[in-house]
Amino acid sequence: MVSGRIGFCLILLGTVLVFSTAGAGGATAEKGVTYDGRSLIIDGQSKLLFSGSIHYPRSTPEMWPSLIKKTKEGGIDVIQTYVFWNLHEPKLGQYDFSGRNDLVKFIKEARSQGLYVCLRIGPFIEAEWNYGGLPFWLRDVPGMVYRTDNEPFKFHMKKFTSKIVSLMKSEGLYASQGGPIILSQIENEYGNVEANFREKGASYVKWAGQMAVGLKTGVPWIMCKQPDAPDPVINTCNGMRCGETFQGPNSRNKPKMWTEDWTSFFQVYGGEPYIRSAEDIAFHAALFVAKNGSYINYYMYHGGTNFGRTSSSYFITGYYDQAPLDEYGLLRQPKYGHLKELHAAIKASANPLLQGRQTILSLGSMQQAYVFENARSGCVAFLVNNDATKVIQMKFRNTAYSLRPKSIGILQNCKTLIYETAKVNVAKNIRVTTPVQVFNVPDQWEVFRETIPTFSGASLKTNALLEHTNLTKDTTDYVWYTLSYKPDSSCANPSLYIESAGHVVHAFVNNALAGSGHGSRDIRVVKLRVPVSLTNGQNDISILSGMVGLPDSGAYMERKSYGLTKVQISCGGTNTVDLSGSQWGYSVGLLGEKVKLHQWRNLKRVRWNTNDAGLIKNRPLVWYKTMFDGPSGNSPVGLNMTSMGKGEMWVNGESIGRYWVSFLTPAGRPSQSIYHIPREFLKPFGNLLVVFEEEGGDPLGISLNTISVVDSNRALQSQLS
Ligand SMILES: *[C@@H]1O[C@H](CO)[C@@H](O)[C@H](O)[C@H]1NC(C)=O
Ligand SMILES: *[C@@H]1O[C@H](CO)[C@@H](O)[C@H](O)[C@H]1NC(C)=O
Ligand SMILES: *[C@@H]1O[C@H](CO)[C@@H](O)[C@H](O)[C@H]1NC(C)=O
Repeated sequence: MVSGRIGFCLILLGTVLVFSTAGAGGATAEKGVTYDGRSLIIDGQSKLLFSGSIHYPRSTPEMWPSLIKKTKEGGIDVIQTYVFWNLHEPKLGQYDFSGRNDLVKFIKEARSQGLYVCLRIGPFIEAEWNYGGLPFWLRDVPGMVYRTDNEPFKFHMKKFTSKIVSLMKSEGLYASQGGPIILSQIENEYGNVEANFREKGASYVKWAGQMAVGLKTGVPWIMCKQPDAPDPVINTCNGMRCGETFQGPNSRNKPKMWTEDWTSFFQVYGGEPYIRSAEDIAFHAALFVAKNGSYINYYMYHGGTNFGRTSSSYFITGYYDQAPLDEYGLLRQPKYGHLKELHAAIKASANPLLQGRQTILSLGSMQQAYVFENARSGCVAFLVNNDATKVIQMKFRNTAYSLRPKSIGILQNCKTLIYETAKVNVAKNIRVTTPVQVFNVPDQWEVFRETIPTFSGASLKTNALLEHTNLTKDTTDYVWYTLSYKPDSSCANPSLYIESAGHVVHAFVNNALAGSGHGSRDIRVVKLRVPVSLTNGQNDISILSGMVGLPDSGAYMERKSYGLTKVQISCGGTNTVDLSGSQWGYSVGLLGEKVKLHQWRNLKRVRWNTNDAGLIKNRPLVWYKTMFDGPSGNSPVGLNMTSMGKGEMWVNGESIGRYWVSFLTPAGRPSQSIYHIPREFLKPFGNLLVVFEEEGGDPLGISLNTISVVDSNRALQSQLS
């Protein structure tokens, strides 16, 4: 620690409260949070804490109370959330804390249910979130280099961090003020990119720590994956096996903490969900506690939904659906229940864990016992069987215990086996999607086809292929690159070749789709070669470049570029004309986006086609709209979009996210077929559904579903009866 204590005074309603962030010992603290080498100390008490990540903008304010209630019932003490800078400051100096962005309301909900909060301010957060949470306007600040010892970046980072800290203080939300926030995080996994910035990386880390500590929150700061976190900032671990991988805190006075225990893994379009078993999560959580860990946060405990265009490059709209609470907030069993039992088993021995002396015994070549014992607080032992194939008999204090393969047993009083990580007592449940309406009546749909812009109508023209995000400023996913092209009369069997730095291209020649291509999270460059038919005169070549979210990570993110990089026409396979330096016209966004066609009040701004069912199917760039009644009951609701291609959908003007069902996994399935409509977006009758389809699909196959879970035993019984 740099200094033993940082004290300050706050005058509040005429009372003078003094609080401190004393480090080791912390015995002087009355209110607030300190720590020692064993744990966080809250209001003078050492704590063993389980935490769960829930990100407020990935659900709705109406969902927050029940999500937090279920989290608490799962044996969780702390709600951990990032703070989403680009939601809160969409334009420089213009702040938004309304609706899903109401951070204060979310924290107060956690407080009212008696939970603590860990506030990960970042303000770079990664999080599979658009641009890692950075507002896109930041890129246009002169001299900007993100996340390094760069004055413009540090200025804006400090300004936003201070803004959030003072908001929290003004609402009395820090534990030092009697509020629920016990920790704040600065930066995020910076250790991953630090080396790219050479000596400026290290000086930035030091600055970030000092800047944060200087904001005097009265609670500790953490940095995750940051071995050089400066005192008094605590370095923490992220990953799936922190009991095995973490080198530990960088000072004996700091507790061993795990800020992201991944309950699953993010999912991209084209990818399958990652299934991590309840047994594996429980094993590694128990191991971390056995090895002195005193804080574990599940990332995510509830993942939720990336509404609108908030997901970053190629990530699906559902987020960590495999978490203990699924995308809709339903219990995912046995994961939820098995971890709940783990938390109870560990909490039952919190006293010996926090106050006992640890001894480690070898009980076999792959077996150990971690024992915490002291005369006053009793004893607890963790028996670890690392053998992944065999049941092992382990003898501990004259009693034999039989442990399953790859399992940790918890012995209360160093005697009674009360929990085993590989023994699941909770029944698995099954999620059921029940169609309540299929939108299969052509008369109930109306259609509007996007116009395909041409070079002659373009207001911006230049002799180069411009960078995609420089044009969009992230106000839309789309840019049109247009060209008027007259082929050489000898051009036989022409083909069009396009290269793009991401993510999607649709090539139109004389108003007809010639071909489409896209990249993936692994294959960044899009290459498309399609045969085209050209007239002898001027041909309109219009190429739509689309993005599926900005990146969320990597060093020098401000330099990343997207959109078309090369366009050529080949004649007869040999004679190639490079058009990259030709006169290109630009049109940013879609017509439907410009008139905000997803909103009621703008529906009349275009002419919808009401009676041409033949127009409906398998056409690119079509807007569809229809009306529907909200399903009765309280179960979560989702749209099955499997019959469509790629696009975005809105319910009553709220975007429920991008969909992309045509990008199949290696097993031939859409990565995500059901898209969540929060109940809060629905009325009992007359809801407006607007869909923008980019490639071509069949809206008559879209269905509205309710979603529920059933116990697998009961489901089996009802099948048999
Ligand atoms: C746990 O903490 C004790 C006390 O600091 C230390 O002696 C022991 O080596 C630690 N055990 C592990 C596995 O880190
Ligand atoms: C984007 O715009 C900035 C500032 O106008 C410019 O410096 C940069 O070179 C552009 N990027 C590309 C790839 O064209
Ligand atoms: C979605 O709809 C398709 C038919 O379009 C069906 O095959 C599939 O099972 C549905 N998915 C779910 C999860 O209900």
